[in-house]
Amino acid sequence: MPRVLMLRDDTPPARIETLDDNDLPQLGVTLDIDFSTLNYKDALAITGAGKIVRNFPMVGGIDAVGTVAHSNDARYASGQRVIVTGWGVGERYWGGFAERQRFDPDWLVPCPDPLSPRQAMLLGTAGFTAMLALIRLEKAGLTPSAGPIVVTGATGGVGCWAIQLLAQQGFEVHAVTGKPDKAQWLKTLGAHTLIDRHEFIAKVRALDKAQWAGGVDNVGSSTLAALLSRTQDNGCVAAVGLAGGMDLPTSVAPFILRGVSLLGVNSVTVPYAPRLEAWERLATLPEAMFEAIETETIGLDALPDKARAMVDGKTHGKVLIDPHR
Ligand SMILES: NC(=O)c1ccc[n+]([C@@H]2O[C@H](COP(=O)([O-])OP(=O)(O)OC[C@H]3O[C@@H](n4cnc5c(N)ncnc54)[C@H](OP(=O)(O)O)[C@@H]3O)[C@@H](O)[C@H]2O)c1
Repeated sequence: MPRVLMLRDDTPPARIETLDDNDLPQLGVTLDIDFSTLNYKDALAITGAGKIVRNFPMVGGIDAVGTVAHSNDARYASGQRVIVTGWGVGERYWGGFAERQRFDPDWLVPCPDPLSPRQAMLLGTAGFTAMLALIRLEKAGLTPSAGPIVVTGATGGVGCWAIQLLAQQGFEVHAVTGKPDKAQWLKTLGAHTLIDRHEFIAKVRALDKAQWAGGVDNVGSSTLAALLSRTQDNGCVAAVGLAGGMDLPTSVAPFILRGVSLLGVNSVTVPYAPRLEAWERLATLPEAMFEAIETETIGLDALPDKARAMVDGKTHGKVLIDPHR
């Protein structure tokens, strides 16, 4: 009888419900879920602040790690630990805010050794996406010798992993944040320089003094415009998020006058081989990098309040969900 966080087109929009196994979707692999995690997209779905859920009723949660309880797919056996992120889970298909859930085997990747379930969800879509952004920048030829690199939305789930991953590769990371009280933590993660979020966008020109070799942008809108306008010749910026808005008030100037590249990152539909490659690379990260992520672990009941705090910009680091709490 799995407990789930069910989202309904109703008031309240999110509530705990207890289901029968027969109520779960008729998909190939049943997982006993160890952990999920709270992403910005989940927070928008739970609060209804963004149009994320495509069909109601919906079990939220775009990420999960769990142990296979039953499988009718030859690729996965009972007892195996697997990760699911993306593919519309928690949006179109029932997701990880549940004690037990069924998934399409095509959405899964084996949880690579030595990653523990907790570590897998300390990463979640956020860490996976930060790794995809790093790989995108590396493939575009960006190296630490090109100069400092910016991470915006620094204290967020993607931001704090992006700082650690880039710093580990030797980049000098400049972190843009709206939370000056988190300065010391951001430095511990590997940020070399901190920039106030409001100063960063105080005056955005089409082109400004070139200061950075590139960046990972989690904010969009004028923040991404400001970053593009200050990216040096042939620099690269990975566009990841829209925490500050979906618009992009810029011009073609950075692209045609400085040869700047804007690289899109979409973690949802990454095919199996590059998905596994990214997770295997994440599995090599040292334990200290997981310990450095400020983490709060909550049960399903506490999710609606935490989601509201995330939408209001009052969270930082990672929120882990233990559905058995
Ligand atoms: N492309 C993909 O596949 C993909 C994957 C994962 C996430 N995303 C997107 O990436 C973004 C970050 O995700 P996340 O999970 O890291 O979210 P998060 O944990 O909520 O972090 C977002 C961070 O952005 C900053 N921020 C929040 N509101 C802002 C505002 N109004 N203006 C400027 N900065 C603001 C805050 O950092 P500071 O206080 O430090 O500034 C906040 O911690 C989200 O938009 C998410 O939807 C995209």
